[in-house]
Amino acid sequence: MQLAEGRAGRPERCFFRQTREVSDSVRPNSTVPPVSATPTPGVSTLFEPAQLGPLTLRNRVIKAATFEGLSPDGLVTDSLIEFHRSVAAGGVAMTTVAYLSVAPEGRTHAECIQLVDQAVPGLRRLTQAVHAEGALVSAQIGHAGPVANASSNRAQSIAPGRMFNPLGMRRTRSATEADIARITADYARSAQLCVKAGFDAIEIHLGHNYLLSAFLSPKFNQRTDRFGGSLENRARFARQVVLAVRDAVGESVAVTAKLNMVDGFRGGLGITESIQVAEWLQADGALNALELTGGSSLANPMFLFKGRAPLKQFGATLPWYLRPGFKLVGKKFLRSYPYQEAYFLPLAKQVQAQVDLPLILLGGISKLETAQAAVAEGFAFVAMGRALLHDPDLINKYQAGSASSSGCVHCNRCMPTIYTGTRCPLVDPRPGDEPIVGV
Ligand SMILES: Cc1cc2nc3c(=O)[nH]c(=O)nc-3n(C[C@H](O)[C@H](O)[C@H](O)COP(=O)(O)O)c2cc1C
Ligand code: SF4
Repeated sequence: MQLAEGRAGRPERCFFRQTREVSDSVRPNSTVPPVSATPTPGVSTLFEPAQLGPLTLRNRVIKAATFEGLSPDGLVTDSLIEFHRSVAAGGVAMTTVAYLSVAPEGRTHAECIQLVDQAVPGLRRLTQAVHAEGALVSAQIGHAGPVANASSNRAQSIAPGRMFNPLGMRRTRSATEADIARITADYARSAQLCVKAGFDAIEIHLGHNYLLSAFLSPKFNQRTDRFGGSLENRARFARQVVLAVRDAVGESVAVTAKLNMVDGFRGGLGITESIQVAEWLQADGALNALELTGGSSLANPMFLFKGRAPLKQFGATLPWYLRPGFKLVGKKFLRSYPYQEAYFLPLAKQVQAQVDLPLILLGGISKLETAQAAVAEGFAFVAMGRALLHDPDLINKYQAGSASSSGCVHCNRCMPTIYTGTRCPLVDPRPGDEPIVGV
């Protein structure tokens, strides 16, 4: 049965729209209270084994998903395997394979791996390579919804309502109730494929305004059916997916979710609502941990990362017809934020005060003392993205005492490399890369 589309007569939403920040997000110039530098004696430390549901992780550091850009045919390559093998050899307890799509229209673009039978042999080789290094491996599964590039996918994107996505130069369509049921089943089937491929954990993407996060967002979800309106309705899709995934995989693998604490723009999901969602997810009993994130790939991408926006390098990745528009609004779309160590900590502590689920602290963890102190303060794990892109061997160095901080300078030049093989241009410069100075 086809449900009515999002509220008729509403203006369509647009990707590069200028947005303002919410009051309950981290203020750009606020002073982030530092995590206390010394771990409390007797509290389990960063390098001791820790339980994540049915899994024992060798320490408390997880490599956060950073889209690898190493699957040009939508299938695993040797380079993708090497990417994760080297992070595993570098000492993390678990690495996360970024963004595996549960449906063809849910790919961010056509070079994204879709979870179908043909992908399983390559993924199995990858999980075996990681296990051989003594680490575990998680699969981030998601549906990009309004963030998907419909032109590249050759499939119309789906969102809570109709909106215009200039990257694909197409309008999304409003998800019907049949779409929601089909995508829920896609998540369950995809999670089973991941288990078949040897993954130890499944991370469900509930952030960055991808489909499930767009449903949670009051800005992007203006539906009037049982999937829109009240927070309970907006959370219905995400909750039913999490339950379906757990039912599909049983108790032998860990299931986690990466949840937006705030969307990072006025009218988006705020901290009070996201804490309520976290409480519901906890009560539903299907998750082993929550990874806490924030920001919007649709409306405020730099909120995810902080630091300087790589405007020129990002512009160069766009098709020619988008470059003039990007020149006009790029600074607003990709606004820079001051970078601070552990920048999501103040929000994460608000979640921690209300929620007993094990929490994974993410966002700007570069220093050993920050990671240690986060664990001492009760975060079950820390997740690190850019610090490990810069140096996959960092955790071994921390453990050996030969480093106490990452050399990542938070320039965000790695962001635009996701289309050509994700790398840190500071340590792996290629012809044409501009020198990274003055960050
Ligand atoms: C190059 C790059 C690609 C990323 N791709 C993804 C992704 O596919 N899925 C996701 O949830 N987050 C992605 N992220 C965000 C990271 O997981 C993480 O949330 C963010 O970088 C903040 O953590 P950090 O300060 O430790 O880097 C990406 C980040 C970078 C730098
Ligand atoms: S390009 Fe390298 S130094 Fe710059 S933010 Fe990315 S990982 Fe860090």
